[in-house]
Amino acid sequence: MSTTQETTFQGKIDKGLKIEPRDWMPDKYRTHLIRQISQHAHSEVIGMQPEGNWITRAPSLRAKMVLIAKVQDEAGHGLYLYSACETLGITRDELISQLHTGKAKYSNIFNYPTLTWADIGAIGWLVDGAAIVNQQSLRGTSYGPYSRAMIRICKEESFHQRQGYEIMSKMANGTPEQQEMAQDALDRWWWPSLMMFGPHDLDSAHTSNAMNWKIKRETNDELRQLFVDRSVKQADLIGLKIPDPDLKWNQETRHYEFGEIDWDEFWKVINGDGFCNKERLNNHTTAHTKGQWVREAALAYAEKRNNGVNHE
Ligand code: 3HC
Repeated sequence: MSTTQETTFQGKIDKGLKIEPRDWMPDKYRTHLIRQISQHAHSEVIGMQPEGNWITRAPSLRAKMVLIAKVQDEAGHGLYLYSACETLGITRDELISQLHTGKAKYSNIFNYPTLTWADIGAIGWLVDGAAIVNQQSLRGTSYGPYSRAMIRICKEESFHQRQGYEIMSKMANGTPEQQEMAQDALDRWWWPSLMMFGPHDLDSAHTSNAMNWKIKRETNDELRQLFVDRSVKQADLIGLKIPDPDLKWNQETRHYEFGEIDWDEFWKVINGDGFCNKERLNNHTTAHTKGQWVREAALAYAEKRNNGVNHE
């Protein structure tokens, strides 16, 4: 790699230009993107499991239809992101193998169980709400295919957040039992949602490079603060209480101050000791193995069609 290439590359980044698959890029930029985009894609697909758990038990046909649509969207988001990742020179098989062997992570939020219907509301409201904050920022990421995938995904994500907040709003204004379920779900999902934004900036292994290469446009803590400020107001609106005794509005900074995240729990769950880690990965490897014939048939059909053999 010549310094000219590196200078040209950083010059494009500094000017806010997109880096495209055929452009020269430093190996470290490429591996950073493969790591982040692949984990993002894995998160979308694994994230289908906790919600899929309630499709057969949705309380109404409308609720079932909305949830099916949402879970289906997540699969599509995973595909956009796997496709964006493949433009960096890694195969889908390698990406899936990294997930199955534990070499690649996925967002630890999906290792928590969905115990009641209110959890589906809390996931849409908080988990998709956190994802929106993060993904809206990522629309400005320097890598072209990732940025374009984010723009598409963000269009659907706001529906996800709305349907979750609607569930929470209905339950928070429902019977005493429903109110209790909604508050219980908020109590269990609040802190893991804050963990979605990653470690504090000073403890983040990747944020300085990510900001220098404009892969990230805001830092973990900046995005987490945005999410807290937005979500506290939404909780107040429907009469739910954020489970944080240290939460308070700072009139000077115009932001909410909040308590410290349990980083031991964060790393414990990431390192495989969460409630559902094993179940999530076993489900994915089983489905992948059982789906082998579908992939083979689709590839065989595509090959025949590309070789001009018409079956009709
Ligand atoms: N869960 C699991 N691992 C996490 C994590 C989390 N919540 N937060 C951070 N980590 C990991 C990082 O992957 C990194 O480990 P690695 O070096 O093995 O990859 C380590 O902790 C240090 O964290 P950093 O902050 O230094 O890492 P990043 O710069 O990559 O920042 C991130 C972490 C903010 C998650 C960033 O990767 C990112 O913005 N990713 C894209 C968004 C994403 O992946 N969201 C996941 C949820 S998708 C979703 O919710 C879908 C919705 O539709 C439901």
